[in-house]
Amino acid sequence: MAAPRARRVLVAHAAMCLAPILVKGKGMRRRHGIELHEQPWVPAGIRNVFRDALSGTQRLAGVYEGIAPRVVEWLNEIDADGVLDLCSGSGGPAMTLADQAESAGRRPRVRLSDLFPDVERFEQLARTAATGDVTFEAEPLDATASVRMEDFPARTILAAFHHFEPELARRVLADAARNSDGIAILEPFRRDWWHALTFAGLGPLSFIYPFIDGFTWRRFLWCTALPVIVPMFAIDSTVSVLRCYSPEELLELVDQPDCEAFDWQVGHWRYLLVFQGTYLIGQRRKE
Ligand SMILES: C[S@@+](CC[C@H](N)C(=O)[O-])C[C@H]1O[C@@H](n2cnc3c(N)ncnc32)[C@H](O)[C@@H]1O
Repeated sequence: MAAPRARRVLVAHAAMCLAPILVKGKGMRRRHGIELHEQPWVPAGIRNVFRDALSGTQRLAGVYEGIAPRVVEWLNEIDADGVLDLCSGSGGPAMTLADQAESAGRRPRVRLSDLFPDVERFEQLARTAATGDVTFEAEPLDATASVRMEDFPARTILAAFHHFEPELARRVLADAARNSDGIAILEPFRRDWWHALTFAGLGPLSFIYPFIDGFTWRRFLWCTALPVIVPMFAIDSTVSVLRCYSPEELLELVDQPDCEAFDWQVGHWRYLLVFQGTYLIGQRRKE
């Protein structure tokens, strides 16, 4: 009895390991589809639970663990204690990255910001962090038109860069190269069929989210009782993967005069064995 079962486990394991290689989306075009949670008709309460579930799952999956040592190296090279997180959403991924950077050797102070800041959530994160570790911009901060912040010379954009179409994405990068010493753009996926299909399949997991990451009635209402988050999670995750820039496309975006002052690196990192993230990390070139 034990042998067939062991064989099945082995086959399943081999399939999991081989699938990313087999279905890698060579030549898969970037498509800027519609993410439901961005739509103005989606009530703010549902959007906030969605962003909450999105950041909770990133934390539970430890998505930034594999890239944290590279992030710490980058912080050391530009000698930055403070990071301005752009497009923070619920702020969760910035906290996750700060925790994982701490495990890798250096915890930066974080300043949260967004074009539509969730001030209530930012206040909550600032209150629960050690004094001064987490601060926030209460006013809208547009990632394409910012100012330099001396106390926060480094910038991050986490799980959000795919929201920008190429023209805006170029402006975000030019703005960072003018007004900061470095930017790390981390997307917790890469654009290929493996990620598109598996992320769609992970949607139903959000049904049990209130029971795996802390119960609140609001989470229970929208994830489990009236589970609108389930299709939203499946659709938006897949659309996000299809919107993700490849490393080659990221290098094309920084191929512009404003970005010449920076050195740029692109690549992927691995998490949970079978998933990969995509990064673009830039830093001001030393004279
Ligand atoms: C996927 S969401 C949240 C990403 C967040 N880092 C996370 O993983 O939870 C993308 C965020 O980008 C913000 N955003 C969109 N355009 C922006 C802009 N031009 N400047 C700053 N933030 C922007 C949206 O308000 C939204 O909160």
